[in-house]
Amino acid sequence: MPVSVPYYFIPSTASTASPLIRIAHRPVSQSIRPRLSPRYITAVRSSSLRNPHYQRQRRLYSMLYAAKSHPASKSSTSASSGITTTTTTSCGTTTTTTASSSQPSEKLIFAPTSNSPDPSGGAIQYTQSTLSLSDLSPSPLTQFHTWYASALSSSVYQPETVTLSTASLLSGRVSARIVFLKELDTRGFVIYSNWATSKKAEDVSTNPHAALTFWWREVERQVRVEGRVERLSESESQVYFDTRIRGSRVGAWASEQSKVLEGREELEERVKKMERRFEGVESIPVPPFWGGLRIVPDVIEFWQGRESRLHDRFRYTRQEGEGEEWKIERLSP
Ligand SMILES: Cc1cc2nc3c(=O)[nH]c(=O)nc-3n(C[C@H](O)[C@H](O)[C@H](O)COP(=O)(O)O)c2cc1C
Repeated sequence: MPVSVPYYFIPSTASTASPLIRIAHRPVSQSIRPRLSPRYITAVRSSSLRNPHYQRQRRLYSMLYAAKSHPASKSSTSASSGITTTTTTSCGTTTTTTASSSQPSEKLIFAPTSNSPDPSGGAIQYTQSTLSLSDLSPSPLTQFHTWYASALSSSVYQPETVTLSTASLLSGRVSARIVFLKELDTRGFVIYSNWATSKKAEDVSTNPHAALTFWWREVERQVRVEGRVERLSESESQVYFDTRIRGSRVGAWASEQSKVLEGREELEERVKKMERRFEGVESIPVPPFWGGLRIVPDVIEFWQGRESRLHDRFRYTRQEGEGEEWKIERLSP
C-alpha cells in the first residue's frame, strides 16, 4: 500500500379534505370492503376510472385492503398538523404513509422557493461568482485546495462536510451518507470510518469505486469527486486517531457502526467496557477495524452557481500514462 504524507490536514470547524384524507381517517382495522360507496361501484362499472379522484380512492383501498387481509398485519391511523399518517405493521416491517389534508394533491412538497427574496416567488438565484478556464489550476487537487481555503475564509460552515456515495456489487444498490473529509494529500481525499460493520464497509469490499459531493452554500459552489478507494495503513490512521478526543477514540472501539442495537443502554454498556479496557492507557491504539480511506480521484468537477441555472462547470479527467496529466472540459449546466 503506498504511504504518503498528508500535506494538508483538514481542521475541525467549527382544500378541503380530499377523498384520500376522508378514507385515511377511517380506522383501517374495520372492514373495508363494505365501505365502498355506491358512486364508486357505479364508477367502476361505467369504466370512469380515469378520473383521478377514483384512481386515488382505488389505490388507497387496495393498499389498506392488502394490509388488513394479511394475517400478521396491524394498522393505525393518526392525524395532526394537517398531515394524516397511516402506520401499517406487517411481517415485522412497519410502513408509514402520509397525506396532507390542506393540499388538493398528493404532493407534500412542490416547487419550493424557500428563503427566496424574489417577491414574485421565483427560486433563489446564484450570482456570487463566475468560473472560467483561465481561473483553473492544471491540478484539480490544487484547485480543490484553493476552493477549500476560499470556503473557509468565506465562513462556510464546516466545509469538510461531504457526502460519500458507494455502491455494492452485484446488486448495484447505491448508498450515501455524510462524512468529514479529514485529509487532502497529493494522492487524494481521506475520510475516516469503521471498515467492519458499516454499510460503506460492505459496499467498498465489493466495489472499490466511490464518489464525494461537497456543497458550499455560502459561495454557491459544488465539487464532485469520483475515484477508487484505498485503505490507509494502521500507522497512517494512528496519526489522525491520536488527534481525536479520548471519548471519540473509546467510541470508535465501542461502536459496531450501523449494527442494530436493542437500546441506547447496549451502546453505553459497550462504551463502559472499553473505558475499563483502556483505563490508565494514554495512547489508545487505532482499532484494526477502523481507519482512513483515501478516494484517489480520476474525475473531479468544479461547479459555480450562476443566474437562471446557467452554471459554470469544469470537469478534470485523469489521463492515462505517466505523471499527473488532466484533461479539463467545460460542461453544460
Ligand atoms: C456532519 C456529519 C459528519 C459525519 N462524519 C462521519 C465520519 O467522518 N465518519 C463516519 O464514519 N461517519 C460520519 N458520520 C455518520 C455517517 O453519516 C453514517 O451515519 C455512518 O458513517 C454510518 O453509515 P453507513 O452504515 O452507511 O456506512 C457523520 C454524520 C454527519 C451528519
